Amino acid sequence: MTGELSPIDKAKFVAAKRAAEFVEDGMRVGLGTGSTAAWLVRCLGDMVEKDGLKIKGVPTSSRTAELAHDVGIDVISLDEAKWLDMTIDGADEFDGELNLIKGGGGALLQEKIVATASDQMIVIADVGKEVERLGSFPLPVEIIPFGWQTTKALLEETLVSMDVLGRDTTLRMNGSVPYITDEGNHILDLHLGRIGNARQMSLVLNQIPGVVENGLFIDICDKVVVGYGDGKVEIRDINAGTVEIDRLDFVDDDNLFTDLMD
Ligand code: A5P
Repeated sequence: MTGELSPIDKAKFVAAKRAAEFVEDGMRVGLGTGSTAAWLVRCLGDMVEKDGLKIKGVPTSSRTAELAHDVGIDVISLDEAKWLDMTIDGADEFDGELNLIKGGGGALLQEKIVATASDQMIVIADVGKEVERLGSFPLPVEIIPFGWQTTKALLEETLVSMDVLGRDTTLRMNGSVPYITDEGNHILDLHLGRIGNARQMSLVLNQIPGVVENGLFIDICDKVVVGYGDGKVEIRDINAGTVEIDRLDFVDDDNLFTDLMD
């Protein structure tokens, strides 16, 4: 079955599988959202089933909650957990300082709350997500539906004075209607091309009335587990300043790969 995976999916899988090794019995773990995080949830479900791993998982979206339930992870809310040992999540982009763009899957708000409420955040990503400077991936900004066009106009006005390459903003759609997040909000995608000062951008965006949160994760991520299509993984730890190289074999596993090819 693994032979049918694309190199990118193999890279996502090995990053997730290696990151799952950081999870220990008794931990409360934030479970990210997206295709890479889905591999992680599957891996953890497998460890629960086969190795008797005992963890509590706090999902960052309704779809992750559903998957976590399906694979047998004990799911609790963030309010029940209050604080987490770690969060493992994907990213749309990461830079050399392990700052991130997230929210391509629309779950940035819960993802940021959960990651911030964790002793450490581990990002899992294929090597294609690495960038020198953030901004090629459109930056998602979650906004409340009330007066969203005014919020969009204010945001565009704010961008005029910011160090970016592009300033187009688009309302994310779900077919012919605006996309609705798990919190009932909309998402504006900012096509910035290159963000000169991501820290400043994040602070400025969150000052605009109507903006709930933005997809820049600054100083939140502690480690990135970078996966490659040939099974290589690199674990970059920003606090320790270390890079560890590892290699994982692809072993076909019915539990992990069944129904995952969607
Ligand atoms: C979800 O809202 C996002 O933050 C995801 O973590 C991000 O889009 C990465 O998704 P993939 O793992 O599917 O690339």
